[in-house]
Amino acid sequence: MTSWSIEGGLPLRGEIAVSGAKNSITKLLVASMLSEQPSHFRNVPNIGDRLITQEMCGAVGAQFESPSAHGLIVHTPQITNHAISAELGGRNRLAIMMMGPLLHRSGRAFIPAAAGGDQIGPRPVDFHLEGIRRMGAKVQIRDGVYQIESDGLHGAEIELPYPSVTTTENLLMAAALAQGRTILRNAAIEPEVMDLVIYLQKMGAIIDYNVDRTFVIEGVSKLNGANHRLMPDRIVAASLGVAAVATGGDVFVRNARQTDLLTFLNTLRRVGGLFEVKEEGIRFFHNGPLKAIHLETSVHPGFMTDWQSPFLLLLTQAEGMSVVHETVFEDRFGYVSALQQMGAEIALYNTCLGNHCRFHSSNYKHSAVIKGPAQLKAAEINVPDLRAGFTYLIAAIMAQGKSIIHGIDHITRGYEDLEANLRSLGARIEAVQ
Ligand code: EPU
Repeated sequence: MTSWSIEGGLPLRGEIAVSGAKNSITKLLVASMLSEQPSHFRNVPNIGDRLITQEMCGAVGAQFESPSAHGLIVHTPQITNHAISAELGGRNRLAIMMMGPLLHRSGRAFIPAAAGGDQIGPRPVDFHLEGIRRMGAKVQIRDGVYQIESDGLHGAEIELPYPSVTTTENLLMAAALAQGRTILRNAAIEPEVMDLVIYLQKMGAIIDYNVDRTFVIEGVSKLNGANHRLMPDRIVAASLGVAAVATGGDVFVRNARQTDLLTFLNTLRRVGGLFEVKEEGIRFFHNGPLKAIHLETSVHPGFMTDWQSPFLLLLTQAEGMSVVHETVFEDRFGYVSALQQMGAEIALYNTCLGNHCRFHSSNYKHSAVIKGPAQLKAAEINVPDLRAGFTYLIAAIMAQGKSIIHGIDHITRGYEDLEANLRSLGARIEAVQ
């Protein structure tokens, strides 16, 4: 695992380009395997999670070619294996997404139950399994492996208990080639889900989308390859926006797209952060005091849970008491203890400080009260996961003194050219042994 030393105290200034979304490319790679024809993706990010997913797809028959720096051709003429190894399945959360292509093209999908990815709550896959059962698959669990089998999926009426992003994407893929019509209610409508829908339509799928979070999918008998340019990563864009404002800097985030960031930008404006939307991206900057606010994470179009940790860090610099209520994942404040160690004043509660959410009677500390402004000081920190990790980097850039951050590899799963990019904005980073 890589460690960095960061000398903080300087604002970030300059320009940085955001590439394609992690949570889009990983699903698109899997979706491409629904067809035996090649697909060509552009604006593909060079990040760890994409490589892990590529390895997983490669292990069942996908072949890859990179015609350009951010281009990727995926071709799966044949499914060569229906089982994902425990080792690959444990490296991110994508293994369960393989069930659609594997079932349609080989009738079987054996998927390890233990998944990797950020530890931000129990993250079960019960919605995925219930959905595929309703579409006619047989699901058993043996020796820690979901053994999913089908001799032809059919359409079904499915109502999700909660608008889960990956469940929606998984069932969209399965339904695209199922026989008959699938109605998927209470579905997720995140921009990354819509990026997948757009790609599936290019492949030949028929997917209607109603105003009430319902997708209606008319199964087709065959999908073709397609060309697709990925949407920009709105989590990376927002994280960089926060980094600019929190350090009192001025950063132009090239390719940041206003439509994907509407709620983020409104919230930033409420706090007192400044931004200017330009044709090719968004400039984020700040000087003067910041204001405390109440904030609640939610499904799209609400304030996304992945923006929560960098934004909470920003709120440590706001004058007064801010409140953050996390309603999507029950355990997403694990990173707070390191910020407390750096001098932030944050208290966590298991009650809902805001609307009643699914976690109201649980013991999970899913609300935070932040008192600011706090002068952050340098610390030695271990990165637990991807999003928390980026937040620690910004905290170290804000803090006075030299911080040591261990476990940088967690962050490069989702952020491209991190070191070079942050250095180009003026961050003083050195790799340490
Ligand atoms: N849920 C269930 N059962 C299921 C599926 C979900 O109870 O079968 C619950 C989850 O436990 C959670 C809620 O539903 O409480 C929402 O989870 P969702 O399924 O929407 O999250 P996800 O699909 O596992 C994706 C992203 C996350 C992002 C969330 C929310 C990917 C690979 N991951 O996770 O991204 O935070 O949607 O937008 O797309 C990240 O990029 O770092 C990341 C964690």
